Amino acid sequence: MVAHLSERVGPAGLVVATDINLSWAAGAAAPNVEILEHDVAAHPPPAGPFDLVHARLVLVHVPERDSALANMFAALRPGGVLLVEDADPALQPLSCLEETRPEEMLANRLRRGFRSLLAERGVDLAYGRSLPRRLRAAGLVGVAADASFPVSDPACDQLEIATVNLVRDQLLDHGVATEDEIAQHLANVAAGKLDLAQPPMISCWGRRPLST
Ligand SMILES: C[S@@+](CC[C@H](N)C(=O)[O-])C[C@H]1O[C@@H](n2cnc3c(N)ncnc32)[C@H](O)[C@@H]1O
Repeated sequence: MVAHLSERVGPAGLVVATDINLSWAAGAAAPNVEILEHDVAAHPPPAGPFDLVHARLVLVHVPERDSALANMFAALRPGGVLLVEDADPALQPLSCLEETRPEEMLANRLRRGFRSLLAERGVDLAYGRSLPRRLRAAGLVGVAADASFPVSDPACDQLEIATVNLVRDQLLDHGVATEDEIAQHLANVAAGKLDLAQPPMISCWGRRPLST
């Protein structure tokens, strides 16, 4: 996303990319990109104002989501656009939309376990659908949204393997699956046996009014 925006704004423009964890930053360096370690909820917004403020799959992880939205609104120039994209796993909770084969049942069991882990960590699993209401409440006008989710895509397989490896110990600790079942699931995914879906992503945008 940073590379895409850097290309779009060109040499005369500026992209300010922020995160509390900058482990990705080395790959994003460019002359028109400034990278800041910054907490979107706790810190005042970077000096702007900006034509566009964008956050994808961030607010769902931030307990003080309304403060974060207020900070992003404050960073916009009058007439500037805020685009927030967040998942809504509660809207489409399945890993496999068809659940008839044992490997599909196992995939859905692991996804259910993963969702429980997220909920325990304070992730709002129905946050995506609330974005239009929240953007209007934050003061944005012309608010609109859409949603999309992949149903079968090689990228879903890669994301599934990365996610399961990341949370493997917690899945074991919570008794969601055994070592053998996790290994079996990863082998099923790697063998292309599953049409894996991911949760819907709600993309919601609006403008800061010209007069604020
Ligand atoms: C699921 S990743 C999404 C990364 C990227 N936005 C994307 O769409 O590929 C969530 C990101 O939110 C960041 N994050 C979590 N809490 C944050 C906060 N309070 N302020 C800023 N970034 C935060 C994490 O460090 C992580 O990089």
